[in-house]
Amino acid sequence: MKKIGLFYGPMGGSTERVAKKIATVLGNENVDLIPVKESKFTDIDKYENIIFGISTIGKETWESDKSANDWDVFFPEIEKADYTNKIIAIFGLGDQITYDLHFVDSIGILSEKIISKGAQIIGQVDTDGYDFRESKAIVDGKFIGLPVNEDFEPELTDERINNWINQIKNKFK
Ligand SMILES: Cc1cc2nc3c(=O)[nH]c(=O)nc-3n(C[C@H](O)[C@H](O)[C@H](O)COP(=O)(O)O)c2cc1C
Repeated sequence: MKKIGLFYGPMGGSTERVAKKIATVLGNENVDLIPVKESKFTDIDKYENIIFGISTIGKETWESDKSANDWDVFFPEIEKADYTNKIIAIFGLGDQITYDLHFVDSIGILSEKIISKGAQIIGQVDTDGYDFRESKAIVDGKFIGLPVNEDFEPELTDERINNWINQIKNKFK
């Protein structure tokens, strides 16, 4: 397998912790962990196998011109990259207990941006086991990436990661 570029943000919280766990499960030697904050589209272009990690921190943030969170800075770079020969998987931190109408929305927002650029996304996840009302991450009845809730369901994180990695690892190039 070619090396996976795991681009994640923000740093210092649950997304980073889960990114590191995913790298450990895949084998750290197979993964470059790359904070999106320090990345450009030319970094994306270096990898054919990519995992994106993102958290959802509210509509007002991602639609604001003034926000400068890590992903807001990276989104314009995402749109410059070419995805035609890449395999992409997405995981997202969120909380369906407090935000049941916007659960992991940013997985969906991110996926839309890259699908429109020709990306092939692997790692769809069944909604069973997640109690929520609405999510922009649902595509054709499934989550288009892996939702992880470290706020209220941390005891489920390892199993969710392991199942997901088993599902995707053989699909990378
Ligand atoms: C201000 C704020 C807004 C949030 N909005 C959402 C939301 O709309 N949907 C969701 O699923 N989770 C939401 N969350 C939960 C976060 O996604 C969750 O706490 C996540 O683990 C944060 O990851 P991080 O520590 O890497 O930033 C929100 C959290 C905060 C603090």
